[in-house]
This record gives sequence, structure tokens and C-alpha cells, in this order.
Amino acid sequence: MTFRIAPSILSADCACLGEEVRTVVDAGADWIHFDVMDNHYVPNLTIGPMVCEAIRPHVHLPIDVHLMVHPVDRLVPDFAKAGANLISFHPEASDHIDRTLSLIRDQGCKAGLGFNPATSLSYLDHIMDRVDLVLIMLVNPGFGGQLFIPEVLNKLREARRRIDVYTNQTGRTIYLEVDGGVKVNNIARIASAGADTFVAGSAIFGQPDYRHVINQMRRALSSVSAQ
Ligand code: DX5
Ligand code: ZN
Repeated sequence: MTFRIAPSILSADCACLGEEVRTVVDAGADWIHFDVMDNHYVPNLTIGPMVCEAIRPHVHLPIDVHLMVHPVDRLVPDFAKAGANLISFHPEASDHIDRTLSLIRDQGCKAGLGFNPATSLSYLDHIMDRVDLVLIMLVNPGFGGQLFIPEVLNKLREARRRIDVYTNQTGRTIYLEVDGGVKVNNIARIASAGADTFVAGSAIFGQPDYRHVINQMRRALSSVSAQ
């Protein structure tokens, strides 16, 4: 199992974002997670395509855009042009989920579908071949620094099962990403429930030494891959 750590710049110091991003890349990040909130789908307002374009030259890693916006489609080409590599959205926020997934791929990005704690995985039933990433929210989206909801681990196990069945049938892998409340002291438990990609905002940017936190996370994950 290959694990990826995706620091969320939601918790970075926005007054010096370029430097923050370079520092966390040097500290060993695998992806940069980019949280887009619209004060409509979620009760918070963050950053848009202009900021994505501004950080793009500072990052050689994939930029993983998480759209918490409604409607979705209008912003997809803007983020693709701004240098996003993966774009995820929430099924409740799109009137035509299949169309939005296709739009993301047509724009040259990988397509992700995000599930809030109370959102059913049945949205995956007919679209697995259009999805490159399944994003399981461990908190209700909108804010960094929340505690993860343990019940969601059951859904994570079910998502892992569905992806494994699909991969066995088709040979195609799908990333299984988790977002919200991931810390050094719970990342192994979350990985054991099936996640392979871990968003972490406050756990990394809330500490002075990003490399130290990422290394601690990797050490915790190595105990899972050794099982
Ligand atoms: C929550 C966002 C997350 C957030 C995670 O709505 O989607 O990506 O930044 O922050 P932490 O890791 O602090 O829970
Ligand atoms: Zn996110």
C-alpha cells in the first residue's frame, strides 16, 4: 500500500502562502490539498482559482482541489486552467453528477467525489468508471481543526471494499482519501480502515516543524503497512 499525505493549506499562514507551500513541499508532502468554500454549500469562504494559479509555480506536486461549492460546473474549467491536477466535488452540490465528473476529466484533471458524514456511498453505484478518487469526509466540511467522527470509519471500510471489488474487476485503481481531523495519533487507525491518502491541515500547519509531523505520520503509517 502506498500512502500519500496531502497538507491542507486552509490552515497555512495566508499572508505568506508561497513560502508556506514551498516549506511543506520540502517537508515531504505528496500532494497539496486546496480547500475551496463558497459560503453557500458550506458556511465559510476561502480561496479560488486565482490563488491556485499563484501557488502553481511554487509546487511541483499534484494540487488536489476540494470544491465545497454549489453549483460546481462553472468553476471546473477555471481550476483546470489554474493548474489543478485533481478536482473533487460533493454529489449534493451538482445537479448532474455524471456530467460534472466527465467535465473534470475533459479538462485534463482527475475526478473525485466527496462524501459528507451523512452522505450515502450509493452515489457511487453507477459512476465508478468515471471516478479517480473517493473522498471520505471525517468531519462535516467547512472548517479546519475539527475532531473526526469515529462512526465514519465504518463508511471508510465500505468504500475500501467497493474500490477493491472494482479494482479486481477492472485493474484500475481509485484513490481513497480522507479529510478532517487526521492527526499523528489517529492516522494509523484511519489507514487500517482503508484510506490511502490523508489530508491534514491543522495537524501539520499548527506545528512549527512540518517535516517532523509528516515524518511522525509516515512512521505511524509504516506500522499499518507492516501488518
Ligand atoms: C474541511 C476541509 C479540510 C480541512 C481539514 O472542511 O475540507 O480539508 O482543511 O483540516 P483539519 O486537518 O484541521 O481537520
Ligand atoms: Zn478538504
